[in-house]
Amino acid sequence: MERTKILVTGGAGYIGSHAVVELYEAGFQPVIVDNFSNSQGSVLAGIEHILGVRVPVHNVDCNDEEALRAVFAEEGDLRGVIHFAAFKAVGESVAKPLEYYRNNLISLLTLTSVMREFGVEALVFSSSCTVYGVPDALPVTEQTPTKKANSPYGATKQMCEDILTDIAAAPDNKLRTILLRYFNPIGAHSSARIGELPLGVPQNLVPFITQTAAGIREKLTIFGDTYDTPDGTNIRDYLHVVDLAKAHVVAVQRLIDEKGEAIETFNVGTGRGNSVLEVVHTFERATGVKLNYTIGQARVGDVPAIYADVTKATEVLGFQTTSTLDEALASAWKWQQSLQNS
Ligand code: NAD
Ligand code: WQD
Repeated sequence: MERTKILVTGGAGYIGSHAVVELYEAGFQPVIVDNFSNSQGSVLAGIEHILGVRVPVHNVDCNDEEALRAVFAEEGDLRGVIHFAAFKAVGESVAKPLEYYRNNLISLLTLTSVMREFGVEALVFSSSCTVYGVPDALPVTEQTPTKKANSPYGATKQMCEDILTDIAAAPDNKLRTILLRYFNPIGAHSSARIGELPLGVPQNLVPFITQTAAGIREKLTIFGDTYDTPDGTNIRDYLHVVDLAKAHVVAVQRLIDEKGEAIETFNVGTGRGNSVLEVVHTFERATGVKLNYTIGQARVGDVPAIYADVTKATEVLGFQTTSTLDEALASAWKWQQSLQNS
């Protein structure tokens, strides 16, 4: 039987590459569009190794309308799009706001225009728990009010959500959209052939932990231990990237089945919060590697605690994460070790 074709922008990136694998394994035909601004060609070899087939790849910038049109024309029968392509570093977005607004907003506008032109009506958009800012109550549901973003990156996610909400409300609209608000994805595919590839010094906790364990970094600095949380360190909802990838498969299937409203929003997390110290100690337990760490200053802009209420995804999408924090951290370590050995 013909596989249903799904365009995956940013499909060579961290989350996108795992989604490509899960889509293919679920019977879809993923087609990658990526300009490799934050990814490497080696990811494609990793995907091919896991799947045993080569997935079509277009080295195209989503801001380039002509080039995107050519992809839609060449592929012909795309049924849906998952839009991962964006710049994602919070700190960098403060230094380069124009680049972030340009890339993250123009790519969405260009993509949705081309989708309309070619009659492609299903879109899954990568949003983020960053839209909730510092929440007043925990866990956060999809009804929790969003707050003014504290970075240009966060602002782009809110603006993209607003743009897609307005498109969905137009009287002649045909686009069906699912906004997935990811919490903190970590870990790597069990094969250790694909995973996170941070450029330079990692800003995120788990790659910093694995690089420290590998001896690339001298020590991990925990950003503050005097927050109003049980052990004083920040709390986040860390989910395995493969679980997150699977959420895209059920979301895109729901859109293709034409279920639900024109636009729907889902939190994607585990529903559990873990502190930074818990992550560190779980890593040590799961891997048997002792971690050199110290307590430092709080990081400006950090949210003290956030984790998801996942009731809506469970009840409406039938989606739940299955991996434990131990498993996710062990997979991150296996990936780090495979990078050292390659
Ligand atoms: P990533 O940087 O690994 O992947 C993004 C991919 O998009 C990269 O391969 C990059 O080369 C590509 N890309 C960027 N701009 C492009 C453009 N204009 N045209 C074509 N390709 C382009 O990031 P990721 O962690 O996989 O994140 C994927 C998406 O999920 C992003 O939209 C990000 O904002 C969102 N998100 C990520 C996290 C996280 O913690 N990683 C959390 C919430 C939301
Ligand atoms: C996690 C925790 C740090 C590094 C960011 C974005 C968010 C979303 C996910 C895209 C925090 C602590 C970290 C270190 C530490 N991305 N930490 N030492 O801040 O939850 O979210 O990525 O949408 O928008 O803001 O993730 O991995 O940076 O930090 O103590 O060296 O680890 O303070 O509590 P964060 P993170």
